[in-house]
Amino acid sequence: MKLSSLPVFLLGSSQALGFEFQKPLGVAQASASAASPSDTPPSYRDELVSLHKSLVEISSASGDENEVGNFLVDYLTARGFVVQLEFLPPSTNESEPTKPRFNVVAWPGPDTHPSPKVLVTSHIDTVPPFIPYSQNDTSLDADTVIAGRGTVDAKASVAAQIVAVQSLLNSSSIQDDDVMLLYVVGEETQGDGMRFFSDTKGKMDPPLDIKAAIFGEPTEGRLVCGHKGIFGCDITVTGRAGHSGYPSLGKSANEVLMRGLVRALDTDLGSSEEFGNTTVNVGILVGGVAANVIPEKATARIAGRVAIGPESDGGAIVAERLKEVLRSVDETAFGFDCKYGYGVVKCDCDVEGFDTTTVNYGTDVHNLEGNHTRYLYGPGSIFVAHGPDEAIKLGDMETAVEDFKKLILHALES
Ligand SMILES: *[C@@H]1O[C@H](CO)[C@@H](O)[C@H](O)[C@H]1NC(C)=O
Ligand SMILES: *[C@@H]1O[C@H](CO)[C@@H](O)[C@H](O)[C@H]1NC(C)=O
Ligand SMILES: *[C@@H]1O[C@H](CO)[C@@H](O)[C@H](O)[C@H]1NC(C)=O
Ligand SMILES: *[C@@H]1O[C@H](CO)[C@@H](O)[C@H](O)[C@H]1NC(C)=O
Ligand SMILES: *[C@@H]1O[C@H](CO)[C@@H](O)[C@H](O)[C@H]1NC(C)=O
Repeated sequence: MKLSSLPVFLLGSSQALGFEFQKPLGVAQASASAASPSDTPPSYRDELVSLHKSLVEISSASGDENEVGNFLVDYLTARGFVVQLEFLPPSTNESEPTKPRFNVVAWPGPDTHPSPKVLVTSHIDTVPPFIPYSQNDTSLDADTVIAGRGTVDAKASVAAQIVAVQSLLNSSSIQDDDVMLLYVVGEETQGDGMRFFSDTKGKMDPPLDIKAAIFGEPTEGRLVCGHKGIFGCDITVTGRAGHSGYPSLGKSANEVLMRGLVRALDTDLGSSEEFGNTTVNVGILVGGVAANVIPEKATARIAGRVAIGPESDGGAIVAERLKEVLRSVDETAFGFDCKYGYGVVKCDCDVEGFDTTTVNYGTDVHNLEGNHTRYLYGPGSIFVAHGPDEAIKLGDMETAVEDFKKLILHALES
């Protein structure tokens, strides 16, 4: 999930709806594993571990996904998939890496004009910094802990999805034309990979027309019923400078900004039973030039988590409310540059055999436009993703292979 999106908190109200609290890795994880996978290792264990290891060993911070993309192309091609590289327009920013960036699109061969019903997708970029791959165990079992950057977010999903699809194909549970795999770049920053795919999917041959999309992100093996939306604003306040001994001669931009932000933090900007309160993070505050000068300029950078819909403009509704609250403190001093984001994103979570949850982080779900059913699921905990201790239990990845198989079959049948 996105860098800007901080931990998943279950909302107070959701407990009444039968959701469970998410627990840190090591508490909930073991018990969430499939029935004693350590007793009967799945036939694909080595394949899963080896694919996951290869993915994690290749550093792929957002913007620098070329190498991991090439690895996936080779891996999938060698296993009979038809693979398409979808190149994003090159960056115009000279300080960004120059290697071409591409999404990996693949489907079971040999048909070169697929019309898949279900899209199985996740992202191949990670947040920085790179943390090397390690296992705490030489002999693999379900309790083996695998650590390193991306082990959870989202290379566990990528590996589990690919193995799940291969396993379904091997057992003839699905046909070649049932599924398409999509591994996008840039999810952790701008979502540019998924947005590019979304914009161009109509130009595929034939144009992509899917029934359902399954998004892999760390959800601790639960099916997500929805996640909060986002919005962000850069706020500037213009005051009037003066001698600090005579406050009435000037107008303190810092003071106006502080009063405004406190009022905004204390105001209900939008809440719902399912998603709780809209929250505002004041991430950056800058103002003034000296202790004894009335500050003329102050700025704040905020990111909000939106708890209301609709998906298309819930973010804009909340941003407008925020502006109103700030203007109620001072009608003329505020300037805004807002990115409206989106409102709450709902997913289908009515699938037998899955625990459900809601989360506070953003995903690529919103970035794929279309009238398809959306599922959001994946192994590993959001509480360790992006952190120095990112790690996952092998048993949880193996459970996810089985769960992705169930989800794919469910999506094909319904
Ligand atoms: C260019 O890229 C660098 C590194 O990613 C970033 O810090 C900078 O803000 C970017 N500049 C522009 C104009 O987007
Ligand atoms: C690896 O970590 C898991 C979970 O903490 C533990 O159950 C297992 O015994 C560890 N293995 C080794 C060899 O330390
Ligand atoms: C699928 O079948 C191939 C060929 O028999 C085998 O190499 C591979 O391990 C199988 N993969 C899974 C996930 O079952
Ligand atoms: C939402 O905010 C209200 C105050 O506006 C507070 O009473 C309530 O506990 C908050 N709910 C959650 C889930 O944080
Ligand atoms: C989306 O799909 C639903 C159910 O199949 C249908 O009722 C609805 O009209 C569709 N909407 C659009 C915009 O195609």
